[in-house]
Amino acid sequence: MAINLTHIRILGIESSCDETGVAIYDNQAFNAQGGITAHQLYSQVKLHAEYGGVVPELASRDHVRKIIPLIDAALKQANCQPDDLTAIAYTQGPGLIGALLVGASAAKSLAFGWNKPSIGIHHLEGHLLAPMLEDDVPDYPFLALLVSGGHTMLVDVKALGDYEIIGESIDDAAGEAFDKTAKIMGLEYPGGPLLAKLAEQGDGSEVRFPRPMTDRPGLDFSFSGLKTFARNRLIALQELAPELQPQAKANIAQAFQEAVIDTLAIKCKRALKQTGRKSLVVAGGVSANLMLREKLAVLMQKQQGQVFYPRQEYCTDNGAMIAYAGYCQYLKQNPDEADVKNSFAKHQIKVHPRWPLSDSINI
Ligand code: KG4
Ligand code: ZN
Repeated sequence: MAINLTHIRILGIESSCDETGVAIYDNQAFNAQGGITAHQLYSQVKLHAEYGGVVPELASRDHVRKIIPLIDAALKQANCQPDDLTAIAYTQGPGLIGALLVGASAAKSLAFGWNKPSIGIHHLEGHLLAPMLEDDVPDYPFLALLVSGGHTMLVDVKALGDYEIIGESIDDAAGEAFDKTAKIMGLEYPGGPLLAKLAEQGDGSEVRFPRPMTDRPGLDFSFSGLKTFARNRLIALQELAPELQPQAKANIAQAFQEAVIDTLAIKCKRALKQTGRKSLVVAGGVSANLMLREKLAVLMQKQQGQVFYPRQEYCTDNGAMIAYAGYCQYLKQNPDEADVKNSFAKHQIKVHPRWPLSDSINI
């Protein structure tokens, strides 16, 4: 099979949790600047809201229903035929095993049918590289703060594929803490964005939440205590007259959010000092949080550095970040099809529900 090295189009498929995302990255699009020419996303949040969290089996079944129509739509949107594609990238892990298997099976089957290589992508590498789809991009090396529903970590990104995790959450991830606290407050799943919205009406100075693990050295995080703190504050709130309760609730939301963000900023500052990096990349669902963005912009200004984010639609799970990561991996590995990791020559469908980011290049 002849691979056109100058014009590369990568189909990216994301299905690790409750979003089915399909996108196409084209290195010749937008006057040869390269970019996303198709972006299709289906969110299952309504399906899971009823249960207050993701139900893995329902997630897998819904991915099965949506994945092929979304791939069709992406090809149409990019005005692309299957044969125009160079390779198919898919999220290989970490994530829900059934959900991952749907994306991996679709990618492998299409790769086999269309005679294209397939490339397994680490979901967190996708998040980490998403800011590279913007106009202003960081140079390697940089520090990355990954804040999603399943992960909170500080990563020293030395080069593409060379990731050292220098800090991570020992219990709940930041997004998980947002979602659990939101649930306690009676907000719908996924509560993170709703809690952030409620916090806009609050006054955080009314309550002070702790900044966990900031009173000792190190770069790890622990957010699970904050939801317990919030629960206790909410119980105390029952004593208030009913008309005062909505404002008091918003105050708790604001104070909770401030505590999470302050803690993230304190650890980022430490990590910048430890690594000497001047660029900070913030990615993952929680990077959509506007207060976090403001806080880290101020921090990086003081540090005479720069902070980089994906646009809002690429903060949460999406196919664009997987298509772009696939493009980077494709360039990095020998473009000879036999050397493309998990290439079409290997039809085995293999996913990694648990997969450390630092091992992503070794599997
Ligand atoms: O990256 P993502 O889409 O999925 C995972 O890979 O986990 O992140 C989803 C998480 C959820 O916990 C959601 O509540 C949180 O990101 N999130 C937010 C905001 N938008 C999404 N948390 C706080 N503020 C937001 N604006
Ligand atoms: Zn994610």
